[in-house]
Amino acid sequence: MSPNIVDLRPAIKTETIPAHIAEEIETFEAEAQRVLGGDLSNDIFKPFRLQYGIYGQRQPGVQMVRIKIPFGGLTGNQLRRVAELADRFATGVGHVTTRQDIQLHFVELKHVPEMMRLLASVGLTTREACANTVRNVTACHLAGVCQGEVFDVTPYAKTVALHLLRNPLNQSLPRKFKIALSGCRQDCALTPIHDIGLLAAKRTDGAIGFRMVAGGGLGSTPRIAQVLREFTPMDELLPTIEAVIKVFDTLGNRKNRNKARMKFVIEKLGFDEFKRRWEAAYAAMGYAVPTHEPIELLEYADEPPLLMPTKAPVISNGNGHGNGAAFLNGDVSAFHAWKRTNVVLQRQAGFTTAAIKLPMGDLTGDQMWTIADLAERYSNGNIRTTINQNMVIRWIPEGRLEEFYGELLTHSLGDPGAELVEDIIACPGTDTCGLGITSSKGMARALAEVFPAGQVPEDLRDVSVKISGCHNSCAQHHIATIGLHGVGKRLGEHTAPHYELHLGGHVDGTPKIGQLTVKLPAKSVPAAVRHLVDVYRRDRKNGETLQAFITRVGKVALKEELIPYT
Ligand code: HEM
Ligand code: SF4
Repeated sequence: MSPNIVDLRPAIKTETIPAHIAEEIETFEAEAQRVLGGDLSNDIFKPFRLQYGIYGQRQPGVQMVRIKIPFGGLTGNQLRRVAELADRFATGVGHVTTRQDIQLHFVELKHVPEMMRLLASVGLTTREACANTVRNVTACHLAGVCQGEVFDVTPYAKTVALHLLRNPLNQSLPRKFKIALSGCRQDCALTPIHDIGLLAAKRTDGAIGFRMVAGGGLGSTPRIAQVLREFTPMDELLPTIEAVIKVFDTLGNRKNRNKARMKFVIEKLGFDEFKRRWEAAYAAMGYAVPTHEPIELLEYADEPPLLMPTKAPVISNGNGHGNGAAFLNGDVSAFHAWKRTNVVLQRQAGFTTAAIKLPMGDLTGDQMWTIADLAERYSNGNIRTTINQNMVIRWIPEGRLEEFYGELLTHSLGDPGAELVEDIIACPGTDTCGLGITSSKGMARALAEVFPAGQVPEDLRDVSVKISGCHNSCAQHHIATIGLHGVGKRLGEHTAPHYELHLGGHVDGTPKIGQLTVKLPAKSVPAAVRHLVDVYRRDRKNGETLQAFITRVGKVALKEELIPYT
């Protein structure tokens, strides 16, 4: 990067840090200094550090900093700040996670308090991004612009997130607690795998509210959440959630963290008894009688940009005339391929949302500056992270897409295939995670041979591939059409990396955990997956998706097909 680029960058706008936040950062700083000075052991410091969103890494002495991005919404200004921190204190790379956060890796503890202050001055925090707390509240990245949504869940996601952040109720739960909100049954925020999932609903009288499910979660014991409340009126949303958290807080297992998630509380009590306890907790809060106040919604400004949509330019069929755009590496057909996979039309006529594909969620500080800049020049300055580890810019006038794509290309951000099968999800794995058994990111790169970016055929469009480096399921392999998790297999003196293959998981419609089908040596996985696709093409019925094919054919027959690769 040349110095003049840095000089041209806009200044980051900051606000005064609220006193209570400044104070909590000072407390963190004092504790961190005690650790660095040898006066406090790392073991005692650890739970405190996690509460503030700072995780250890596989590599000793460095930290992972997880920045919470409620519902994935951040401004260009905030993204510039993250970029600055990535360059100054981390590896120059940020990582968008499957729960819409952004992580910075290889950070020295001594720099963390300064980073916290710099984040706080633009309204961001790492607080309660890890540990036994309510984690980032996630939501569909298309909320507010999606053609199919019942209503925009964004203000509700923001209100729930801010209501629970630093809330005494949420400081020392038995285990982590995850909440997600989706705008329709397509369920892009994956509500069935959350402790609380909220699906937008409308009653016949026109009132809007949420269908609330509880007790989902992945990890080594995956569970699909069950319906706790068919219709939660908006005014009762916060107390309804609080009552669930209270039941969990009281009954969760604090002795064995492997049995501590709320799904285990429900399993032990039975869902009916859990529901009864929740009703009792709700009534005890005084909400059984309808005297409560209406919800005070926080606003989220996401208005159309001042640029008015113009008619899309007439594009000739790739003969080099008439498109008017000077793509450095692409041509018109490349633009169309990208548009087909990365752009959706908004419910607001003339506006589009474009996804920027980030390979396995990673992007450089320079790319963050670029995205911030593009969001301001082509849209209203807002960006959202997605649970498929990408970023989207909404409100782009359709007529400006081609020009926008040209700019993405010059910054290596114009890959097609965002949110589709070639957009493989992988957890950090052995690259940085202390629990990793296999290199999930390496496997994702190997599988790119089977699902090449921008060239995946139409019949595999809706397939998802997710790879975790161990059974903890950070990449959510249980809900993928093709899910893989890393295990070690002893072969004489050595342990060889293997993957368990899970097939047929999904969350839309009737959610289903993928079936554990076969254990494969890491090196055979690409060939086995290719064979699975071949078998599907050979034996499918007319119009059958891979998902439907897996369900119909079943585990036994598919295992038989894949045994030669084990
Ligand atoms: C006992 C240990 C762990 C368990 C049981 C666990 C489990 C999970 C699960 C189930 C998810 C995501 C799926 C969901 O939403 O439910 C997740 C997310 C994630 N985990 Fe872990 N995990 C563990 C440790 C780690 C470690 C050590 C790392 C790496 C430093 C890590 C990195 C991640 C990342 C990057 C995500 C997406 C994060 C987010 O924004 O919340 N996890 N974890
Ligand atoms: S799935 Fe396992 S290897 Fe991957 S990040 Fe989670 S704990 Fe680490």
